[in-house]
Amino acid sequence: MSTSPNAQSGIGQPDRILIFDTTLRDGEQSPGATLNVDEKLTIARQLARLGVDVIEAGFPFASPGDFEAVSKIAAEVGSEDGPIICGLARATQQDIKAAADALKPAAKPRIHTFIAASDIHLEYKLKKTRAEVLEIVPEMVSYAKSFVNDVEFSPEDAGRSDPEFLYEMLERAIAAGATTINIPDTVGYLTPSEFGALIKGIKENVPNIDQAIISVHGHNDLGMAVANFLEAVKNGARQLECTINGIGERAGNAALEELVMALYVRRQYFNPFLGRPAESEAPLTHIDTRQLYKTSRLVSNLTGMLVQPNKAIVGANAFAHESGIHQDGVLKHKRTYEIMDAQSIGLTDNQIVLGKHSGRNAFRTRLRELGYELSEQELNRAFLRFKDVADKKKEITDWDLEAIANDETQQV
Ligand code: KIV
Ligand code: ZN
Repeated sequence: MSTSPNAQSGIGQPDRILIFDTTLRDGEQSPGATLNVDEKLTIARQLARLGVDVIEAGFPFASPGDFEAVSKIAAEVGSEDGPIICGLARATQQDIKAAADALKPAAKPRIHTFIAASDIHLEYKLKKTRAEVLEIVPEMVSYAKSFVNDVEFSPEDAGRSDPEFLYEMLERAIAAGATTINIPDTVGYLTPSEFGALIKGIKENVPNIDQAIISVHGHNDLGMAVANFLEAVKNGARQLECTINGIGERAGNAALEELVMALYVRRQYFNPFLGRPAESEAPLTHIDTRQLYKTSRLVSNLTGMLVQPNKAIVGANAFAHESGIHQDGVLKHKRTYEIMDAQSIGLTDNQIVLGKHSGRNAFRTRLRELGYELSEQELNRAFLRFKDVADKKKEITDWDLEAIANDETQQV
């Protein structure tokens, strides 16, 4: 078995920022966002089209449904040229074994194991001492390593943990074979400069850190998850754990679309932190940004979690200009009030307004942008219903279109 970082996946120390999508695991932990196995598969296929590097497909020990979903995603989406498929496991043998079993069909399986690191979690949740946890970490990483090459380790609540204790835990995890070290701000407590300093401290004080990729994971309790991650990138983080539309526990996780577009629009600012010339135009992630809007709509439809209109990147108003001054400016020169093109996330430039005079082609185009691919028969039926609704309403919204398409077809 090779010991080089992520040898199995062939990514080594990446020259791009890796995108680890946890919509199907942490995202699904949003209250009310439960997905069935088919819905998870549909989302996983779209995440692969989007180009994420890793899909955290679920927590196999948590329920038979999660086990089945991870296993099916591993079989259908986890091909050699597809993403790494990851399963979450607490640092216990039963969890790790369940993850290993569920991941068997994947060409590139990863086990992500975690244990609490903060004193408050140790005392009240785990009821274990620091010394006991330091014994468990290498034991469970080695156990995971007996099933797969690619093992990720997370010290939960790292954001509120003693850095010296963290360094010790991470060193032991890497020595036992962990190839990704993930630093979670589990309760969204840190500020950007604190998170950056934490990553810097880890780079400087964990002696074997070069043998692992540094990853970050964060929640949005104070609305700082994305800013925290960007500061982490500047200090050496090379994997970002995030969810579509930022869904997840409580206030959610760092939003994938925001991170990806920040790294895309401001690539020249971030280039030097990755050792690239500032003027380089080479992409910083593997994401096909033109798939972002479609993915956002799909996740919103299937989870039932609405996207707020003013949400960055994928909100209904993200590319809309309301005031006369702004409209006038944009008509004279787009860049007066736009820092990115609508097409870059998969929208058409000029949003076609659909109404009773619109034709089939415009109707089909808009549905495609929303993530729906209809057969000819489905399109005919949907178009008749659209005309019917258009006769009764002045303006047809995306919600109307999605309701019609959901009735007539299956999402792609
Ligand atoms: O927020 C968290 O700490 C997690 C871990 C399991 C990585 O989701
Ligand atoms: Zn989390």
